Amino acid sequence: MKLTLNERYKRFMAVLAVGLSRPGFLAHFRHPGCWKMLTVAMCMALLGCLQAQELRGHVSVILLGATGDLARKYLWQGLFQLYLDEAGKDYSFSFHGAALTSTKQGQAFVAKVLESLSCPEDVAPDRCAELKGQFQRLSAYRHLATSEDYVALSKDIEAQVQHGGLREAGRIFYFSVPPFAYADIARNINSSCRPGPGAWLRVVLEKPFGHDHLSAQQLATELGGFFREEEMYRVDHYLGKQAVAQILPFRDQNRKALDGLWSRHHVERVEIIMKETVDAEGRTSFYEEYGVIRDVLQNHLTEVLTLVAMELPHNISSSESVLQHKLRAFRALRGLQKGSAVLGQYQAYSEQVRREQQRPDSFRSLTPTFAGVLVHMDNLRWEGVPFILMSGKALDERVGYVRILFRNQAYCVLSDERWVADQSQCLPRQIVFYIGHGELGSPAVLVSRNLFRPSLPSESWKELGARPGLRLFGRPLSDFYAYRPVREQDAYSVLISRIFHGRKDSFVTTEHLLASWGFWTPLLDSLAHEVPRLYPGGAENGHLLDFEFGGAQLCFSQQQPEQLVPGPGPAPMPSGFQVLKAKYRESPLISAWPEELIAKLADDIEATAVRAVRRFGTFHLALSGGSSPVPLFQQLATRHYGFPWAHTHLWLVDERCVPLWDPESNFQHLQTHLLQHIRVPYYNIHPMPVHLHQRLCAEEDQGAQTYASEISALVANSSFDLVLLGMGADGHTASLFPQSPSGLDGEQLVVLTESPSRPFQRMSLSLPLINRARKVAVLVMGRVKREITMLVSRVGHEPKKWPISGVLPSSGQLVWYMDYEAFLG
Ligand code: BG6
Repeated sequence: MKLTLNERYKRFMAVLAVGLSRPGFLAHFRHPGCWKMLTVAMCMALLGCLQAQELRGHVSVILLGATGDLARKYLWQGLFQLYLDEAGKDYSFSFHGAALTSTKQGQAFVAKVLESLSCPEDVAPDRCAELKGQFQRLSAYRHLATSEDYVALSKDIEAQVQHGGLREAGRIFYFSVPPFAYADIARNINSSCRPGPGAWLRVVLEKPFGHDHLSAQQLATELGGFFREEEMYRVDHYLGKQAVAQILPFRDQNRKALDGLWSRHHVERVEIIMKETVDAEGRTSFYEEYGVIRDVLQNHLTEVLTLVAMELPHNISSSESVLQHKLRAFRALRGLQKGSAVLGQYQAYSEQVRREQQRPDSFRSLTPTFAGVLVHMDNLRWEGVPFILMSGKALDERVGYVRILFRNQAYCVLSDERWVADQSQCLPRQIVFYIGHGELGSPAVLVSRNLFRPSLPSESWKELGARPGLRLFGRPLSDFYAYRPVREQDAYSVLISRIFHGRKDSFVTTEHLLASWGFWTPLLDSLAHEVPRLYPGGAENGHLLDFEFGGAQLCFSQQQPEQLVPGPGPAPMPSGFQVLKAKYRESPLISAWPEELIAKLADDIEATAVRAVRRFGTFHLALSGGSSPVPLFQQLATRHYGFPWAHTHLWLVDERCVPLWDPESNFQHLQTHLLQHIRVPYYNIHPMPVHLHQRLCAEEDQGAQTYASEISALVANSSFDLVLLGMGADGHTASLFPQSPSGLDGEQLVVLTESPSRPFQRMSLSLPLINRARKVAVLVMGRVKREITMLVSRVGHEPKKWPISGVLPSSGQLVWYMDYEAFLG
């Protein structure tokens, strides 16, 4: 129904008159909030009258937790900004501050906050005062606790809308409350505060969204019982930081220049950093539960990472495609291992926890307040590019940035003092989304002048003026094309506007949330008992927290200054042991500390390979799975540049009946720790065919026979040049377990077997095939192998009981490689 301005005004006054004349109506207004309500309704109607164009509807914003810290610091200001941006356009508004605080106290609190609101610099003071007055009149506090309160709230909103002759467009419920309060509030909103048909509901949720994958899933399921996915807006306030919100638009507007640069071929590394000087004092009850990884990396830094790494949709204004592409980036994150992170804790932290939570003097917290994590993406664009995520409290400065550092492949003939910023390709080339604080003191986008002149929307970003003497990332500011926002905006204001405009891509969907927790939870579990490095805090940290990476591992650059407590008598030192050469089961035994042992084995394998290639032109190497060979694979990948990989054929000794891409697959281990780092021709790699016709190790698929035929066809006499075996604590080797009905003797070269542990089904080379090898090396590591090592040293040839005892190459050589723990205990 379209009403003219005049009609609307008349109607409102008529409603008011009728209402006022009704018996009991005024009694209604004895409630302290009601006069305020009436004023709000009048203002809405009057405002409606003043607006020059037709309103599309009325929006009610309900701020839950309106007297809390977040509300005081950011949310009220964000709502005011929304009003400044949208008032006089298509919608009318009312703002309901709600909390458990008593009405009187709540009203006083809200009144004070409203008084402190400010306008952006470009709004004239008179105009600001006028708008602020309007906003104050449209805002009211109400005590909201019981389900009746919610029913009443809904009725009041309906009455307001009706009285104003307006149409309800939607309701925004902003949950600025602790997570334990979510369920009750959600239930109440769902049962009694949903707007009528045709109007939308948006609920805004603040982190934490769970503590790990399971709890996040539970919380998501619970909320999913009350709200539809499109109704939920999970806030990650970093997505509202101007520099972060600019990442996708920047990539979009500079597609042409970035197309050739934004990939592993050009990017050397990406740094995503949030350093803080504050510590966790006053918040330890929260912090102790979460720590820096859950507090910052799992959400803020991961969100930023996906914006940098995701494939760019054709149309970035489509929330749906942005979200889909982002989800794919989440899914491409390579799983983290314990070694992917370094942890620290500022020294005063444990004491703060003891004080704030009345813990005993002996209490020492393991919660990290600092973390550096090395992340890799498994996709063609980013494969091999290190993404460094780092955050910490009590550091030397407060700053946040995303820095994309490009490889430098130039050599400059001109001497360096003559290099010109936009011409020399030898200067560092980088793009930085400067989130804020630090030397610059404001958000910014920086692009090295020797890259390209970027395009940014001139209405919202302007070039930064000269700042002589200021250096960023080791370069003067003048080396960069540098832009800052025309108008600096707080993240919450940006996000509140996006909620209003229904921009779901600036929020965390359930799928994204779970994908992120799925990525972080295994690392968090593996680090649960890790002792963080203590740091003094501030500038005194010196270089203590610097870290470096090699492959997928990260470690502190400086050794931990350890205090060693000397024991009685001289302690054995690694150098006191020689590589021990002896006999074990009548064959040569090499024993050493693990590192030396692995180095020796790797050297021996390389020497064997070089000899084989010289004599026969190829080297056939069969490798076992399990964890013992992992350091060997790493050693071969990183230290053996003379290895004749181009002439090496790689075979599997055994395999688990899982798809080859499964992390449990032996082939996957080999791929992760060796194959991806070396250059073996693809056709020389021979994974076991455990996954044929979409089935795993089905007899009828004849996978074992196929592998045997491949071996017979390619390996002269089916005699491998080297077979690397391990020994299980039960005496198994390859996937030949005690009492195995097949593979211990007979004609078959490759067999299907059963393991006593998961995954039960296996494929394995048989003992007769293993024993045809020219050389067999058995690698045994760790104290857990001590008992079986002792036992097997005494038993004869009894492969049924201890398959390892059946390893006896008919004409080849057998060598045992045992570390001291396995051999000496
Ligand atoms: C919050 C964390 O999400 O982000 C805090 O819980 C952290 O621990 C804060 O201090 C940092 O945000 P900002 O906007 O100050 O960089």
